[in-house]
Amino acid sequence: MSSHKIIIAIDGYSSCGKSTLAKELGKKLGYNYIDSGAMYRAITLYFLRNHIDYTNPVAVLDAIANINLGFVFNEQLERSDIELNGEDVEPYIRDMIVSEKVSEVAAIREVRAFAVAQQKRMGRKKGIVMDGRDIGTTVFPDAELKIFMTADPDVRVMRRFQEMYATNPQITIDEVRHNLELRDYIDSTREESPLHRADDAILLDNSNLTKEEQLEIVLEWVKDRATNPRVTQ
Ligand code: CDP
Repeated sequence: MSSHKIIIAIDGYSSCGKSTLAKELGKKLGYNYIDSGAMYRAITLYFLRNHIDYTNPVAVLDAIANINLGFVFNEQLERSDIELNGEDVEPYIRDMIVSEKVSEVAAIREVRAFAVAQQKRMGRKKGIVMDGRDIGTTVFPDAELKIFMTADPDVRVMRRFQEMYATNPQITIDEVRHNLELRDYIDSTREESPLHRADDAILLDNSNLTKEEQLEIVLEWVKDRATNPRVTQ
């Protein structure tokens, strides 16, 4: 049976390795990988830089009208970097100052409508892997493969701490833990598209899996879904 291009939606809590898996899948399958969290982070960076009062919906709509987001492939690092109005902002969007505000910004209805509309357009041709919080529930409810990732909270904190420590040796484990707990709480309890597992998403707990092991498992799922398409009603 021939295989065809599908949409892979990966959702889950903060720092459970969604982006790592999604990036590797994209590379292996020749699919476009989109980090939807980078879009919310870039919007947050714009709001912070321009002192936008994001509690005011009019100010939010005005600001959004001036935001252009895009992805460019960074050959050297083999990843897609996000551009905010033509500037590669990848070096700034993972700073703690952005992480502290991003979940509040991502909870705003107008912000989500803006980001989700772009994300849906990106999936028109299939052959895409996107990770985030609402990809299987809102952005691509008909995705052929949906994965809900989770990992032990302590494992997640240590992974993110090591990542951040590389560029910011001042960072503490407590700061990282507090930020992950806060974001998970806001993301799961917000009114607009809260983070939750879609009924048809496969649960992947990677607390005790290496990157290679998780990739191998998921590639089997992809093979299955790409050769045995589900009948959509
Ligand atoms: O890398 P990490 O899992 O820590 O977060 P991220 O994917 O960079 O996303 C940052 C934040 O953006 C999340 O905590 C959510 O508040 C928001 N987000 C969202 O609301 N919906 C998405 N599809 C992706 C991210």
